[in-house]
Amino acid sequence: MHASLHDRRQRLLAQLGDAIAVLSTAPEVIRNADAHYPYRADSHFLYLTGFAEPEAVLVLDGKTGRSLLFCRDKNPDSEIWDGFRYGPAAAREAFGFDEAYSIGELDQRLPALLGDRAALYWNVGRNAAWDARVGSWLEGARQQARFGVAAPAQYGDVLALVDEMRLIKDAREIAVLQQAGRISAEGHVRAMQTCRPGMAEYEIEAELLYHFVRHGARQPAYESIVAGGANACTLHYAANNARLNDGELLLVDAGCEFMGYAGDITRTFPVNGRFSAAQRDVYEVVLAAQLAAIARVQPGARLDEAADAALAVLVRGMLDLKLLRGTVDGVIESGEYRRFYMHGIGHFIGLDVHDVGVRKNGGQWRAFEPGMCTTIEPGLYIRPDETVPQAFHNIGIRIEDNVLVTASGHQVYTDDVPKSIDDIEALMQQH
Ligand code: GLY
Ligand code: MN
Ligand code: MN
Repeated sequence: MHASLHDRRQRLLAQLGDAIAVLSTAPEVIRNADAHYPYRADSHFLYLTGFAEPEAVLVLDGKTGRSLLFCRDKNPDSEIWDGFRYGPAAAREAFGFDEAYSIGELDQRLPALLGDRAALYWNVGRNAAWDARVGSWLEGARQQARFGVAAPAQYGDVLALVDEMRLIKDAREIAVLQQAGRISAEGHVRAMQTCRPGMAEYEIEAELLYHFVRHGARQPAYESIVAGGANACTLHYAANNARLNDGELLLVDAGCEFMGYAGDITRTFPVNGRFSAAQRDVYEVVLAAQLAAIARVQPGARLDEAADAALAVLVRGMLDLKLLRGTVDGVIESGEYRRFYMHGIGHFIGLDVHDVGVRKNGGQWRAFEPGMCTTIEPGLYIRPDETVPQAFHNIGIRIEDNVLVTASGHQVYTDDVPKSIDDIEALMQQH
């Protein structure tokens, strides 16, 4: 166990006061027949426990300051088929809980644990069956009233508390995120080096996944987008089964999940290794927008300042390229730019690719703080349209990096893959 797990639970306990918190991990999900999707623990649960087995529940008791795990028992027969499980005793030892019990004892023990706690926090409203089960423990706690034991009368969402903690990454998380970023970036380099006209999109996807798995990242953080030519104008393109044509661009949006943490990188490059004049023109706009936004990522700057910096560059470019007419302010005011740029500048990243943390407080955009990690990912997507110069038809470009806010500014930790036109062409010419 690493020390930060204990520290995170202590910090949450300190916020609970006399309250008690109950938090379950994610269920296993059937893919078809009796085959499961790869199991992935709930991110909040993982953050607080490090415990990755299914069928597990964490209880944090603010009144006693103790942390309790409920998990699957050891089971020699099941372990022959499905592999090792800790069982309560070994899990308590390995992950630093004060107490650990069989998950089979959960319904029996919880009503008593809720007694004389002022408030109950749980992961509310994500799963109806789980909410009902929590309700049954509350009812059990209320049955103790005749013995002079009070049931909690206030309820809250424990995840809202954990979200704020997860938003500011600790030193260990930063190291793992940087590693996820590095492996993801190397996968993109491999994709650029391999790409040739005539290949299929899935062949490039295979290069990425090969590199991820080779480096211990068994899963991508999300379905990889490998979108040649016009497919790049579909934001969440996932078919990845078209041919890559000479003269077209390839947009690759892919990142690995390493030790639970996500990488999320996009690069757009020419299938044949050389940008055309029109591709170059659009690319330079998107790159300038991305660099302008990244420059605003620093402690104290608000999230919308980065977004606005990118938008101003993109709209200036749309006007220069004659995609739109008018003035920068007019086009921003009217929202016309959304024809070509219809998503946000980015999102927090961490255990989830679209990570937790509210972006506004009381209607105000929040400011960057050291330890936040965000993506910066502007794009331009030009669908065919007679009002648009034909040379730009079907060009879709996004450039995405992952950025850590540091005490003095920021660190782009996914820059092991080139993004300037010269650097991309140089890398692709080497092969
Ligand atoms: N790949 C998902 C995103 O960029 O947000
Ligand atoms: Mn992405
Ligand atoms: Mn992203």
